[in-house]
Amino acid sequence: MLVIGGGGREHVLAWALALSPHVEEVLAAPGNAGIARVARLLALPDDVHAVAAMAVRERVDLVVIGPEAPLVAGLADACTALGLAVYGPSAAAARLEASKAYSKDFMARHGVPTAPFRIFRHAAVARAHVEAHGAPVVIKVSGLAGGKGVHVAHDVAAAVRAVDAAFDAGHDEVVVEGFLVGQEVSLLVVCDGRTALPLRLAQDHKQAFDGDVGPMTGGMGTIAPVDLLDEDGVADVMRRIVEPTLAGVRAEGAPFVGTLFIGLMLTAGGPMVLEYNVRFGDPEAQVVLPLLETDLYELLHAAATGGLHAIDLRWRGGAAACVVMAAPGYPGPHPVGIALDVPDDLGRDVLVFHAGTALERGRLVSAGGRVLGVSALGSDRADAVRRAYAAVDRIGFAGAHVRRDIGGRLDERKA
Ligand code: GLY
Repeated sequence: MLVIGGGGREHVLAWALALSPHVEEVLAAPGNAGIARVARLLALPDDVHAVAAMAVRERVDLVVIGPEAPLVAGLADACTALGLAVYGPSAAAARLEASKAYSKDFMARHGVPTAPFRIFRHAAVARAHVEAHGAPVVIKVSGLAGGKGVHVAHDVAAAVRAVDAAFDAGHDEVVVEGFLVGQEVSLLVVCDGRTALPLRLAQDHKQAFDGDVGPMTGGMGTIAPVDLLDEDGVADVMRRIVEPTLAGVRAEGAPFVGTLFIGLMLTAGGPMVLEYNVRFGDPEAQVVLPLLETDLYELLHAAATGGLHAIDLRWRGGAAACVVMAAPGYPGPHPVGIALDVPDDLGRDVLVFHAGTALERGRLVSAGGRVLGVSALGSDRADAVRRAYAAVDRIGFAGAHVRRDIGGRLDERKA
């Protein structure tokens, strides 16, 4: 097995793959200090062809590509060209995430429900549009932005500022779309080009601060499962959103192999697509995969080789929560090199997934914005959240930025 990437998502992937009796050894490139406990780390070459050649040299049976950037750069295509089994879509299919302008046009072409939108290539035209149409409105840069490219503007002045900031930062395409009201959920679907299996629904908390305020981040914490859609509701999303999407990708290029991650807004008018991603969510993977009982190697290998129809997804009961511990100042400028003290005895149902960590002269230190994802399993969501925060409170990490309300949005609904 070779896992590509070095964040929390790749840590949970490597951890779950290492549990499989089919897997002799997990390799990871570049990995991080946590992944090093379950995998042998390799340096990650810059060029996708060199990565694929390295996988051949290491006699890897399956390449699992974690992040979007190598997918967009064509790593899956380079692996396929060398005869490797690979879990992750082609660069053509990865356009669903690489370009929001492309993905919104794609949804319009294929009748996938989404917010009304316009695409702009000139700041003055975009400004005139938001001034004429008012707020609230959502401003998105079209290209990859690590989850930080979306701005929800509640008044016209903020919308104009967001438009200007996007063009000033060098983005040449900006999407302006309608603001949708509802609960946001993440649906991850494992696909083999023909069969698509939905995983448990999760909910992320993307804004930096409690109460869903502040700037967008890569994700500050997750909870699963989410009962905002029942089995029929998920089946409806598969029929009205996932199937047309996969049929559209097939019709426009290559079949989709990998994780299709659909950011959904559950509106009064039904589920609508906020965005597509073409890989596991981070930190959605850190709650969904610990709940999965099915052997992850069997699942991903089946997806990579067209065999998903034979896979039976089995789930643990209860729930999982993940609380992200980020560097002080994240998602803005933040220090690195902060000493981390992660006790060994946090409990059997607690899993600490490393995101931005490194070993410095044998000492565990922070090396990024999101540093640790502390996941816990519990008998229900409240129990999982309690266990995750109890673990967070025992981890030494000076100045850590932590949201204290993970999972709370679902409870507000009941209050
Ligand atoms: N958690 C959101 C993402 O992975 O894009």
